[in-house]
Amino acid sequence: MTGRIPYTKPSITELETRYAADAAANGWGAACYDYIVRFEREFGSYIGSDFAIATSSGTGALHMGLAALGIGPGDEVILADSNWVATVAPIVHLGATPVFVDVLDETWCIDPAAVERHLTPRTRAIIVTHLYGNLAEMDALLALGRRAGVPVIEDAAEAIGSMWGDRRAGSMGLFGTFSFHGTKTLTTGEGGMLVTSDPDFYECVLTLSNHGRARGQTKQFWADEIGFKYKMSNIQAAIGCAQLQRIEELVARKREILACYRIRLCVLPGVQMNCELEGTVNGAWMPTAVFHPLTGITREALQRGFAAADIDARVFFHPLSSLAMFEDRRDNVNAWDIPGRAINLPSYHDMSEDDIRRVSETLIAIARGEGRRDARLSRSA
Ligand SMILES: Cc1ncc(COP(=O)(O)O)c(C=O)c1O
Repeated sequence: MTGRIPYTKPSITELETRYAADAAANGWGAACYDYIVRFEREFGSYIGSDFAIATSSGTGALHMGLAALGIGPGDEVILADSNWVATVAPIVHLGATPVFVDVLDETWCIDPAAVERHLTPRTRAIIVTHLYGNLAEMDALLALGRRAGVPVIEDAAEAIGSMWGDRRAGSMGLFGTFSFHGTKTLTTGEGGMLVTSDPDFYECVLTLSNHGRARGQTKQFWADEIGFKYKMSNIQAAIGCAQLQRIEELVARKREILACYRIRLCVLPGVQMNCELEGTVNGAWMPTAVFHPLTGITREALQRGFAAADIDARVFFHPLSSLAMFEDRRDNVNAWDIPGRAINLPSYHDMSEDDIRRVSETLIAIARGEGRRDARLSRSA
């Protein structure tokens, strides 16, 4: 064993430190928004959206977007039960009701049929999270949204680099949100982005993002409504510009790490990794292994084994409806069952081949030591 293997850490080169130093030295006064404006323009163009607004977090981007839709008390917002708590927090802050639905066994993303079953006259939005870089079934979800007259929103916090056909994750719904938290493929430390191609919606979010002061407002220090202050700093945006310049390389390395795990772990029967449906590209933010129920391998055994090997592997998101503040939705069978037999694997850019081998061999040893041998598995795997 040769030292701890962390879960994630960003790839920071001389380019990022040079841009950050430039912003710190020169990005004030008349230049105080230069990197922000540039990051928004270049990020929107990379994603294929007409407009982008940089924020202090992905959560803030989602909060402002939902507020711009006028979502509030009495409204329902549908989202997957398998999610990070950040996706539901803004719904709760706005006083609306989250409606948790199940995910698909293959993609771990929201099940369109379950969405359809939960639509009501009070449904005001469908939030689609592309979990761990896996893509949700966008054709079905967008068609459903159109038929129901309900906007589809993409939480693409984990899906930079993922593509559905020729569209990038985040560019297909009314708006998409991204996170640039230090664990993400592209980071600014903390930070996020809202993207949209709807000009009216953009203006609405822009006003909200500036404490409710509309563009062109000539009266100084005058707010037309109560808005938000979820802005990204120029120094963070400078780091973002450098990361975006390297985005192809950053995504390619994440994909390479996932591919290496896939090859090394294929010796194990009954292990499922992030899917890449035909016609899609998985940005591979978080390589995740899910064991078939017949293997008998549990999250707890995986956590114990990785902790003993000094490897920082993490649990699959608990279903949000299992949190104390929500009503239990155990009937979301996949969302409740998958986390108990799954684990997220380390995947930072600078991981060596040796690190990947060590993680894979640890996982294989845990599975062989703790797992059941079931003849049905070799047939189903
Ligand atoms: C699915 C999902 N949604 C939203 C967020 C929120 O992003 P942030 O941490 O930048 O607020 C995250 C970030 O971890 C996430 O993974």
